[in-house]
Amino acid sequence: MTLIDVPYSVEELNNAQIELVRKNEFQGDNVYIRPFVFLGYGVMGVYHKEAPVTAAIAAWEWGAYLGEEGMQKGIKLKIVSMNRPSNTSAMGKAKATANYLNSQMAKFEAIDCGYEEALLLDDQGYVAEASGAAFFMVKDGVLISPPNDNSLQSITQKTVIEMATNMGIKVERRRISREEVYVADEAFLTGTAAEITPVRIIDAREIGCGSRGEMTQKLQSTYFDIVFGRNKDYEHYLTYI
Ligand SMILES: Cc1ncc(COP(=O)(O)O)c(C=O)c1O
Repeated sequence: MTLIDVPYSVEELNNAQIELVRKNEFQGDNVYIRPFVFLGYGVMGVYHKEAPVTAAIAAWEWGAYLGEEGMQKGIKLKIVSMNRPSNTSAMGKAKATANYLNSQMAKFEAIDCGYEEALLLDDQGYVAEASGAAFFMVKDGVLISPPNDNSLQSITQKTVIEMATNMGIKVERRRISREEVYVADEAFLTGTAAEITPVRIIDAREIGCGSRGEMTQKLQSTYFDIVFGRNKDYEHYLTYI
């Protein structure tokens, strides 16, 4: 038994995504796909097993999630007062819509304070992730990202770690404290929407050179080569429409 029985196979959902992008005949070169599985109408109580399970997939052209300028020069990140819910009270690894109230409140606080994105700590005070992206920092040539103890099991984070390892960069997955973040040489965010977005300021402190760092730039250009089909070694990640 599963908690939510999805009425479609992974293959059916994948094919629907391909058909959706094909039929829309998008003109730009950046399209975002957002598949949803949700509980439909029929049950008003909290016990959900009797509710119909429905799926929907949306696709739209979407430019740089944190702005074109942010992609080049880096964004301003704020460690917000809102923590990520503890592991004992949420399914943090899952991309569950219910988890996004936390992200939404965190993002609002960051924007309201004049920043572009929120960084959330976990309930122990270590870095969890941004409101809609994973966090990476560089210190002394080592690329560091927190484990997924209290963050989304992110696809882009996994890809960046694979890329970096193949490029001969030493990668560590370990807890990161707030003070380590402030003295990082470089920092960036990763996600399907955020792609690889450099971070230039965290809580009013300049990170490294105060702009996109050298390793960030290298990883960014490798990433874009992969997603735009210019790197044959990663061809297996691509689906041509
Ligand atoms: C909270 C959160 N963390 C991390 C990510 C990055 O995950 P992925 O690389 O799978 O898109 C996202 C992406 O939407 C997110 O919403």
